[in-house]
Amino acid sequence: MEPEDPVYVALYSYTRALSVALGYRDTLTQLHSERVRGLSETIGMACGLSRQELGILKIAASFHDIGKIGIPDCILLKPAQFDPPEWEIMKQHSEIGWEIMSVTHLEGARQAALAIRHHHEHYDGRGYPDQLAGEAISIASRIISIADSYDAMAQTRSYHRSKTHAQIMPILHQETGEKHDPHLMRIFCELIETSEFKAAKL
Ligand SMILES: [Fe+2]
Repeated sequence: MEPEDPVYVALYSYTRALSVALGYRDTLTQLHSERVRGLSETIGMACGLSRQELGILKIAASFHDIGKIGIPDCILLKPAQFDPPEWEIMKQHSEIGWEIMSVTHLEGARQAALAIRHHHEHYDGRGYPDQLAGEAISIASRIISIADSYDAMAQTRSYHRSKTHAQIMPILHQETGEKHDPHLMRIFCELIETSEFKAAKL
């Protein structure tokens, strides 16, 4: 997993080291992040993003959950659903990720940090942490949100079993307009059919 754009090599290397650290605590997050990167890149290319925008997207997607490094083990590794106070703590990971990325002041850090901060914003303004809506959310964050939702459902977690592609798509459609950008969802629906990251049929 290497960045293609040499402009962002320093930022990538810095964050990759932290990602390896997070991987020692939580292997699932690291593997999930690599698939979210692949899916996000495919969507970004289909949207015609510039080389620079794709560079930022790939870094933000690879490290979208890096802020989980600041979440205590008793919550991060809990093998059950969170209760409301635990959920509030888990939600802090997007702001922690923004902070980790921002402090580098490296080339691309500000844009990547914002994309990470807003990867749980919803298209209707009901997400977190800033309740942004529509195109006030960067396109990178809107893309990562779709890729993240799809892959999270495709994988088995300690608190839920994996879903098939046929089970995931109706859920994503139901969330479109509320959680997801309808235009990006149309692009995603087409390209997921031939993607190497498409979830299992059975
Ligand atoms: Fe996240």
